[in-house]
Amino acid sequence: MNNILITGGAGFIGSHVVRLFVKKYPNKNIINLDALTYAGNLENLKDIETSENYTFVKADICDFEVVDSIFKQYGIDSVIHLAAESHVDRSIKDPLSFARTNVMGTLSLLQAAKTNWNDDLKGKLFYHVSTDEVYGSLGDDGFFTEKTAYDPHSPYSASKASSDHFVRSFHDTYKLPIVISNCSNNYGSFQFPEKLIPLFINNICTNKELPVYGEGKNVRDWLFVEDHARAIDLIFHEGKLGDTYNIGGFNEWKNIDLVQVLIKTVDKLLGNPEGTSDKLITFVKDRAGHDYRYAIDSSKLKEELGWEPSLQFEEGIEKTVKWYLNNQDWVKNVTSGDYLKYYKEMYEK
Ligand code: NAD
Ligand code: DAU
Repeated sequence: MNNILITGGAGFIGSHVVRLFVKKYPNKNIINLDALTYAGNLENLKDIETSENYTFVKADICDFEVVDSIFKQYGIDSVIHLAAESHVDRSIKDPLSFARTNVMGTLSLLQAAKTNWNDDLKGKLFYHVSTDEVYGSLGDDGFFTEKTAYDPHSPYSASKASSDHFVRSFHDTYKLPIVISNCSNNYGSFQFPEKLIPLFINNICTNKELPVYGEGKNVRDWLFVEDHARAIDLIFHEGKLGDTYNIGGFNEWKNIDLVQVLIKTVDKLLGNPEGTSDKLITFVKDRAGHDYRYAIDSSKLKEELGWEPSLQFEEGIEKTVKWYLNNQDWVKNVTSGDYLKYYKEMYEK
């Protein structure tokens, strides 16, 4: 696998995966295909953009002809597919765009892989990056395993579940070599500040309200994004074809407790007296269809491939908060939309 197509490489997780692969595999060509939606930001990759083994292609995964031509032009022999509409709240407002990108876009990539690899499937791989949200919602006990039945509730998770099924169907029907991973909530640098952790860090810094949905009792299982990227690298190289791996940190937090940790960490790093930002917490209307609890059992990944998270949560959160505090220009660019101008100048001449 020498010509690796990474889709969604300008997004949050994708940019960490691209950086890891470009640096770790100087003899492999990394082709980053991204449509640069509001969530895609080439500033996330400034440190590696001039690397010899890196190419950026601005394209929409839903455009089969363009995707097919990229496979041919670059001799793509493997795919790590991350491009998606990823935010649950947006999916509630605009489900159609989630079906388009996450379902039809995945299908277009699968079809391009099938068409181009048809004669020789040896040494090829289609790696689909998915989410634990496909499994639905847990009560107070238990974990999602790779055998948990799919039960998606939001338009986002329904679209990701559908894409997972299409990926498996291409394996079962056409013998396409695939692997799928389903990961829990990620946090870390370069995450678009619409998601809970970067949104709240930013709001605490700018003294804005922290809109906690419902009573803040929902539980999420948080994983540092660089640990997710390492897991993807491992599964890409050593995962069993046709198999599924759950990725998670065994790190559950009730939203309201997590918000307290964020407040404490930001206040400490800004030199504010303890408790300064507590007043910003504002309980607001709950998210429609809000899944109560996610918790991943990632023991298969540990037992079969030896993966474990590298960071303790408090350490990861402190690192993350410091990154946002030290990269205020990035935050400002992203929240003001200035970065969209940057793309226009670079790629739309
Ligand atoms: P993101 O929203 O930060 O990035 C998505 C990227 O995809 C952006 O760069 C965007 O420009 C690109 N994109 C969107 N539509 C496209 C299209 N039609 N064609 C080409 N590119 C397009 O997302 P993320 O949080 O980095 O998530 C990446 C993947 O990981 C997604 O598939 C998501 O479902 C999955 N995932 C995310 C998490 C999480 O906590 N963020 C957890 C588990 C799985
Ligand atoms: O579990 C993996 C999923 O994690 C990924 O597949 C998704 O792409 C990713 O967006 C994330 O989904 P969530 O909906 O769990 O993440 P979000 O950051 O939007 O919300 C985390 C929790 O915080 C959730 O219970 C909703 C709550 N929340 C979120 C926001 C944005 C709030 O209370 N207030 C907020 O303003």
